[in-house]
Amino acid sequence: MPGGGISATSDVGAIEAPVTFKTYLMCAFASFGGMFFGYDSGYINGVTGSSVFIQVIEGAGAKTLSGPHNSLIVSILSAGTFFGAIAAGDVADTIGRKWTVIAGCAIYIVGVILQTATNGLGLLVAGRLIAGIGVGFESAIVILYMSEICPKKVRGALVAGYQFCITLGLLLAACVAYGTGKMTTDASYRIPIGLQFIFGFILGVGLLFLPDSPRFYVKRGRIEQARKALASVRDQPQDSEYVEAELAEIIANEEYERSLIPAGGWINGWLNCFSGSVFKSNSNLRKTILGTSLQMMQQWTGINFIFYFSTPFLQSTGAIKNTFLISLIFTLVNVCSTPISFYTVEKFGRRPLLIWGALGMLICEFLVGIIGDTVGFNRTHTDAAGTTIANNIPAVNAQIAFICIYIFFFASTWGPGAWIVIGEVFPLPIRARGVALSTASNWLWNCIIAVITPYMVNPGEGNLKSNVFFIWGALCTAAFVYAYFLVPETKGLSLEQVDKMMEETTPRTSAKWRPTTTFAQDMGMKEGGKLDMNVEDVERKGSIF
Ligand code: BGC
Repeated sequence: MPGGGISATSDVGAIEAPVTFKTYLMCAFASFGGMFFGYDSGYINGVTGSSVFIQVIEGAGAKTLSGPHNSLIVSILSAGTFFGAIAAGDVADTIGRKWTVIAGCAIYIVGVILQTATNGLGLLVAGRLIAGIGVGFESAIVILYMSEICPKKVRGALVAGYQFCITLGLLLAACVAYGTGKMTTDASYRIPIGLQFIFGFILGVGLLFLPDSPRFYVKRGRIEQARKALASVRDQPQDSEYVEAELAEIIANEEYERSLIPAGGWINGWLNCFSGSVFKSNSNLRKTILGTSLQMMQQWTGINFIFYFSTPFLQSTGAIKNTFLISLIFTLVNVCSTPISFYTVEKFGRRPLLIWGALGMLICEFLVGIIGDTVGFNRTHTDAAGTTIANNIPAVNAQIAFICIYIFFFASTWGPGAWIVIGEVFPLPIRARGVALSTASNWLWNCIIAVITPYMVNPGEGNLKSNVFFIWGALCTAAFVYAYFLVPETKGLSLEQVDKMMEETTPRTSAKWRPTTTFAQDMGMKEGGKLDMNVEDVERKGSIF
């Protein structure tokens, strides 16, 4: 019999232990991985502006990096992260989630050492490629690991903690770039690069003390290890009724999914991610499309236009004097708004966050575009000294304010929301690869946008000025429609219940779904005598959609 010797329950509310402080701390630790993500995305802008660094790459006397070198140095990280994320799914199913993240940290540290030691382009590019592979491992598998170990009631909030760390990483990068930018020795680039070592070290060493995901052990048929890991992350004794019931549920779900998605070789494993009909909302293909397109949409919101290009963009308008300060304000709004999602994602759910968030962003973006075109950024004149000055300073300030409100909407909704949902929608047999593909999609679109945006706004090319916000506004409109029709509500459900919910509902009706049976019950597992326990109210109320 499946999971023989484990007491199951048919009480849908009794499959998880109450959340303790220790559980919070253990589950939140891995979110520190977000620091790599944010810092790595942000620090390079400062380094490529350092005059010492420019001379190391281009030779003595050079004043700027050549276009191809600049583009290679910036984008090689995304290439590494893209391939790293895809490979990480396989690795995580083989050696486990925890060891994949630790391996990612080790790869990352090797990449960081190469970059810090660099005296020319070759070593730097090789170092960034290798570090990128490490970041790819880490960014995909931290989400997978956290989604699998976090208690369902606070899973969204804890995964949002990962996004919070991304924002802190971006802020730290901006501050370090500011502090080291004017240095006249090689410390101006070796300090920002070398600092990354600390992140890899803390995450890698810290994880050594945490258990692997119980769901990974179940997938590998190592039930006793799964029990031990589960007891540890739920802060319960190994023979606790809650641990028994949750374990039975994970095993029964794995059995069920396995009967639908037969295991096979490596190729089959990948083919499984694309199996089923595109018209069935719970097919693997649809889940893979959902995860990858959600991350694509997150990038389409245009957020990295702000974080990668706000300084040159603001400079090019000629309307802002202290561009660094404004960029810092953008980064601070990002940091301060993210924690709001810790509460809202569990109170209102994932769907309302993504729908209202897209609406808020698109309104702000269109307003920035309209004000810019009529009275703001796009309307400047040149004074007698040849300096470009905005015709209407209050209008320019209004645009800045709307960009801040737009960042507020992103940081409190789509920023964390996209990561939370990709960790929840995949069934166990394809979860590692599904999350890996979705993360790779984030990096791919991140890279595409980083490469094409300069052409849209460069004065010598597209010269769109703030009209570029019409493009982001249109893409956010697509994200709004997309979230309404395609994103299911996963709040308050165990990962196994998410599976069932996606089978029995459509995204638009998903918020109303309540579990009525457990997987253990459906699979005919031994009843553990918990039928009389109070059914915990799953509290999925409160959603507007
Ligand atoms: C996105 C990044 C972005 C960051 C900003 C993340 O969720 O994936 O591309 O730079 O949020 O906070």
